[in-house]
Amino acid sequence: MVHGLTPYVPGEQPKLANLVKLNTNENPYGPSPKVIEAVRAEAADTLRLYPDPNSDRLRAGVAAYHGVAFGQVFVGNGSDEVLAHAFMALLKHEQPILFPDISYSFYPVYCGLYEIAHRTIPLTEQFEIRVDDYFVPNGGIIFPNPNAPTGRLLARAEIERLLAGNPDSVVVVDEAYIDFGGESAVPLVARHPQLLVIRTLSKSHALAGLRVGYAIGQPHLIEALVRVKDSFNSYPLDRFAQAGALASIEDHAYFESICAKVVATRTRLVAAMQALGFDVLPSAANFIFARHPAHEGAALAAALRERNIIVRHFRSPERIAPFLRITVGTDAQCDALVGALRALC
Ligand SMILES: Cc1ncc(COP(=O)(O)O)c(C=O)c1O
Repeated sequence: MVHGLTPYVPGEQPKLANLVKLNTNENPYGPSPKVIEAVRAEAADTLRLYPDPNSDRLRAGVAAYHGVAFGQVFVGNGSDEVLAHAFMALLKHEQPILFPDISYSFYPVYCGLYEIAHRTIPLTEQFEIRVDDYFVPNGGIIFPNPNAPTGRLLARAEIERLLAGNPDSVVVVDEAYIDFGGESAVPLVARHPQLLVIRTLSKSHALAGLRVGYAIGQPHLIEALVRVKDSFNSYPLDRFAQAGALASIEDHAYFESICAKVVATRTRLVAAMQALGFDVLPSAANFIFARHPAHEGAALAAALRERNIIVRHFRSPERIAPFLRITVGTDAQCDALVGALRALC
């Protein structure tokens, strides 16, 4: 079976200095100083002891931040791990699960790993999720909101319509990028027992290196995730991760301020790209998805790379091959990108 797996390929992390790195949707700003303080405090003799296997203090912090009960929170080693457990615990059924044809490319990988049948539902011509297309028999539904790599947002009212039309399916909303401009589906959890919302501290909290993600759902869904987690790894979050993540969640003024900076730069970047002739999809995320009518995506990505600027380009599906996915960096990084593109386009 292992020989047949097609693993996920993450964006590269080159070891070059002076790189303008706009390829993996990391936050260009550092995490809250309180995170650094909390992580430093964990560098102590207590490292000889195992961490709390259930990350209870962190779970309580997440619950307080979102105004949900403690039993409605699950935490994991990055949202990728939370997603993996959700696929195994909640999305493996007779019927195929549904997700958009253009979406997070880890979803088909988990389907391969856990032998879950899936069917992809095409986005519209404008790269939007059309909820009516999901009113078909299914074994579950998953999508990112905003979607990746398009950046397009599905309104909360539409998610509610999707849930109403799929009362017996687990619906997973992957909110990796929601803090950059969307309304979270978390308030819908109280009314929809089949909804699981998954989030990460990697993007809006600038903590991709700490590996912390979490899920919010009603207790029966959370218990299923805990069962899988405890059959796999008792201690997915180490002492640094638990302490740092809690400090970050509690310092919401800080992460909201860095999100606001990213959003302001995104507005500037979109305007500059449009002035160069790019079509830019409306983005609610910390990246934009853009194509130039006269230049191929792969050629532009390669030419930028020669200038020490890296962005992400996907060769497939073919429909998105003309696009570049560009992480919103600092104003200076985005100015460097626009300067390079001006010379190329
Ligand atoms: C849509 C989506 N979901 C989840 C993740 C995983 O994030 P992490 O494992 O860092 O929490 C990513 C990362 O790029 C993503 O784009």
